[in-house]
Order: sequence, then C-alpha cells, then structure tokens
Amino acid sequence: MKKLTNEIKCTFLSKSENEALARSIISGFLLPLDPDVEELADIRCAVSEAVTNCIVHAYREKVGTITLIARCYEDKTLRIIVADKGCGIEDVAKARAPLFTTCPDEDRCGMGFSIMESFSDRLSVYSKPRKGTRVTLTRKLSSSEKKDT
Ligand SMILES: Nc1ncnc2c1ncn2[C@@H]1O[C@H](COP(=O)(O)OP(=O)(O)OP(=O)(O)O)[C@@H](O)[C@H]1O
Ligand SMILES: [Mg+2]
Repeated sequence: MKKLTNEIKCTFLSKSENEALARSIISGFLLPLDPDVEELADIRCAVSEAVTNCIVHAYREKVGTITLIARCYEDKTLRIIVADKGCGIEDVAKARAPLFTTCPDEDRCGMGFSIMESFSDRLSVYSKPRKGTRVTLTRKLSSSEKKDT
C-alpha cells in the first residue's frame, strides 16, 4: 500500500463558473509537486472535462453538488476523483467511446472521456442510473523520476 502524502476534498455547486474554480483548485494542489508544464495542462484539462460533464449532463437544468478529491502518494502518483449525484449513465462503455454524445444538438462532440483517458494513465468510470457518477483519474507525475535520479 502506497503512502498518502497529501489529500484535498472539496464540494461545490454545478455552476459553469465553478469549472474555472476546479481548474484553479487542482493547479494549487499540483504546483508544490513540481509538475512539468505539459502535465499540469493535461490534468487541468481532464478535471475540467469531468466537471463540465457533471454540470451539463449529470444535473442538466438543475443545480447539484460536485465533489473533487485529489490525493498524492509518495511515488508522486496522483488520484483525482470527480463525483456527482446526478442522473448517472446507463451504459458506461458506450458513453466512453470516442464521439459518443447524448447532446449533439448542443455542440457537444463526445470527446470528453477520450480526452480524460489520453491525459491519464488509468481512467475508471463508475456510474449508477439516478444515483450518480464517479470518475477516477490516475496519473504518475514525471517529477517522480527526476527526483529519484
Ligand atoms: N457525469 C455524468 N453524468 C451523466 N452522464 C454523463 C456524465 N458524464 C458523461 N455523461 C454521458 O456520457 C456522454 C459522453 O461524455 P463525453 O464527455 O465523452 O462527451 P460529451 O460531454 O457529450 O461531449 P464533449 O465532452 O466533447 O463536449 C455524454 O454525452 C453523456 O451522455
Ligand atoms: Mg463532456
């Protein structure tokens, strides 16, 4: 079991202005870990996609709560969780497929999960219809290698 070195947990409303807030929170969490510019941008983008999905899909016209949890382990592995208590996803495998969207008429292109996947080492999506969705992104920071040599 890897040792946890830092953890944050925050909850905010599913309002579009909180997309930028989520990016700032994750940046603030990552900066002391000495990420390179690219991985910081990747993780900010992945978090933004997950939070946007909660806002536009999970709660739709309603406003609900989004929980963002970030953990860092001693080998600089990050685990980031974005969870909602919204409508959930009927078929997760289908939803994760590139270009699949349930909102083509709202200018969505169905690339959010693909972007999250490409910016993580592992992406897990757990969802229950009418209960909500939890997206867990795992990524090891390259600064872990720099520090070890
Ligand atoms: N948190 C969520 N709650 C409910 N449904 C979701 C959630 N996240 C994703 N989905 C469903 O999965 C589909 C695919 O999500 P994905 O992020 O890949 O594409 P998108 O949001 O439709 O488009 P894009 O992200 O490119 O704007 C969505 O269209 C939606 O039906
Ligand atoms: Mg999306």
